[in-house]
Amino acid sequence: MVSRVIPVEPFDLVIFGATGDLANRKILPGLYRRFFAGQIPEGSRIIGAARSELDPEGFRAQVRAAIAEHVGAAKRDADQIAGFLALLDYVAVDAQGEGGWEALKALVRPDRVNAFYFSVAPALFGPLAERLHAHGIATPAARIVVEKPFGRDLATARALNATLAAHFDEHQIYRIDHYLGKETVQNLMAVRFANILFEPLWNAQYIDHVQITVAETVGVGGRGSYYDKSGAMRDMVQNHLMQLLCLIAMEPPYHFDPDAVRDEKLKVIRALQPVRPEDIVRGQYIARGTAETDYVRDAENPASKTESYIALRVHVANWRWQGTPFYLRTGKRLRARTSEIAITFKQPPHSIFDDEEANWRENVLVIRLQPNEGMNLKVMIKEPGPGGMRLVQVPLDMSFAEALGEEGTDIPDAYERLIMDVIRGNQTLFMRGDEVEAAWAWTDPVIAGWEARGDKPKPYDSGSSGPDDALMLMHRDGRRWREIRE
Ligand code: BG6
Repeated sequence: MVSRVIPVEPFDLVIFGATGDLANRKILPGLYRRFFAGQIPEGSRIIGAARSELDPEGFRAQVRAAIAEHVGAAKRDADQIAGFLALLDYVAVDAQGEGGWEALKALVRPDRVNAFYFSVAPALFGPLAERLHAHGIATPAARIVVEKPFGRDLATARALNATLAAHFDEHQIYRIDHYLGKETVQNLMAVRFANILFEPLWNAQYIDHVQITVAETVGVGGRGSYYDKSGAMRDMVQNHLMQLLCLIAMEPPYHFDPDAVRDEKLKVIRALQPVRPEDIVRGQYIARGTAETDYVRDAENPASKTESYIALRVHVANWRWQGTPFYLRTGKRLRARTSEIAITFKQPPHSIFDDEEANWRENVLVIRLQPNEGMNLKVMIKEPGPGGMRLVQVPLDMSFAEALGEEGTDIPDAYERLIMDVIRGNQTLFMRGDEVEAAWAWTDPVIAGWEARGDKPKPYDSGSSGPDDALMLMHRDGRRWREIRE
């Protein structure tokens, strides 16, 4: 299969927070992998900027170590690494003071595509944006990339949008939701809009319900102080699960174009109904076995009421989805790390087979985001062999690794894809300001509701599938969650 990657012009990318965790784990190793794939043109420059008084050599040593730790052996080639390190430079800058800005200005070439990645705490977005302007570093074509959390409620998100808008136009602002960079998430759009097969059935008349699961095995230890102020609703549902829901529920955009896609997603978010208290289950993990810790210990807050798990029953109030519930769940310390979207279709209107009553199972389309990216469609067929017409359900399984060979196993990390989209100037997979605000406008009352009721999350065992009450959320409707397993 010939890869058709759109080439990019040489660029200057400045990473603020270049010595931080995200830069070391994701951004810099991701850029190296793109370099290894031949996608970073000669003459490009990647400039680390942070508080630490490092020199460029010290920064290169840090990036070399990050590559050793986070890039697979097959891609760690000495010449390639040397070539990549040669693109790097470093300036110590004070985000809230004046130190380092003129040195940075001397490095960034205004006639290039230039992008500034704010991999820093949101409190620094404003000061950085201001200084990039005050020092004449950002050109009208410059792009800025901002990380989540984008606010912690509608008011703070609005304030952040206003701060950025004071210095940059919307077309210059790239708000990252790394779930949109996941290969299978984009595939969801390809499956829906490049096949005639699914779209006619993609509505409440034929779809019984949708399940979106993002299950993790990790706890919150190490980042408890951030997480405890956030919880699963703010950390995962307001952004990642919401984006997945949008891609499933949206109308076909007229073109695969940033604003066309984002307009359709926005309509979905605005159509979300308020969630009823009985449609929410929150949980908090407790240790099982001595090697583990309770959530409250990881969060260093014995009285914490923050949820490390949440399940919700959500309605998209429009013609297409009237009567089809979306069940969302996500949590930490669950039994397996798995993310998937499962679309369960309705029963055929009339049964012609005697056996059907007993053996009929729903058609289910499962889109696996991780691990083992792929799709699986469960269909009914005749059980092979003589002896009458007996039905059996079988999977039509497509693992990308198997179907696409090397290209299917060598799936770029979400960050790689998204950073290159910034360089290309393509905002399709980034959130627009109004989208983020609409997502908070839906999230805020849900959180305010449980806070006003003084709800406490239900305990669940580490390594389980979450609190038992979450099962009831589905049983009540005569449905069942899919098993959480790798
Ligand atoms: C982040 C959340 O945005 O996504 C984390 O802050 C979470 O809590 C992570 O663990 C999950 O991302 P992924 O790509 O590992 O599914």
